[in-house]
Amino acid sequence: MAGPLAHLRSATIDDVGGILAIIEPLEDEGVLVRRSRERLEMEIERFVVAEHDDVIIGCAALYAFPKEKVGELAALAVHPDFRREGYGEALMHEIEQRARKLRLIRLFVLTTRTSGWFIERGFAESDPSRLPSRKRDLYNWQRRSLVYEKRLA
Ligand SMILES: CC(C)(COP(=O)(O)OP(=O)(O)OC[C@H]1O[C@@H](n2cnc3c(N)ncnc32)[C@H](O)[C@@H]1OP(=O)(O)O)[C@@H](O)C(=O)NCCC(=O)NCCS
Repeated sequence: MAGPLAHLRSATIDDVGGILAIIEPLEDEGVLVRRSRERLEMEIERFVVAEHDDVIIGCAALYAFPKEKVGELAALAVHPDFRREGYGEALMHEIEQRARKLRLIRLFVLTTRTSGWFIERGFAESDPSRLPSRKRDLYNWQRRSLVYEKRLA
């Protein structure tokens, strides 16, 4: 699990630069969907960060669809120097906790490359047709992300 020097907390507007430093290289590689700084600023309250010695080393976001009682785990990323130390899993668990507090019953994740990691952590292969309609309309068919879901209840 996460070492004693790291802790998870809700992101604030001051974390936008730190989050971008983590996710931009992954956006460049096509691993994560690109987000503008403006969009990140608008959506900052959806993010959780892992902080180590005052530096952001990981992040994740929860997009909730309360009507359908589902959520999407998005932008899960850990700085390469801090991988394999349990931070990814800790961030995922924090998002799951938040989703449960919102009484969501399913959590989705869309990924092109990280299927194995999610399957090992309780996600099962799903299908774009099971996404909430608002999300389905935004689904980028060209990216051909695979959709995974996990029951939370
Ligand atoms: C996925 C990611 C967040 C995991 O972060 P992490 O802090 O290394 O995760 P953890 O330490 O909790 O778990 C690491 C374990 O997962 C394994 N793992 C890492 N990437 C994997 C993958 N693509 N498929 C399967 N297993 C993977 C590691 O081998 C390690 O296992 P071990 O502890 O038995 O050696 C991180 O690799 C990352 O930032 N990847 C790029 C972004 C991404 O793909 N995000 C998902 C799309 S939203």
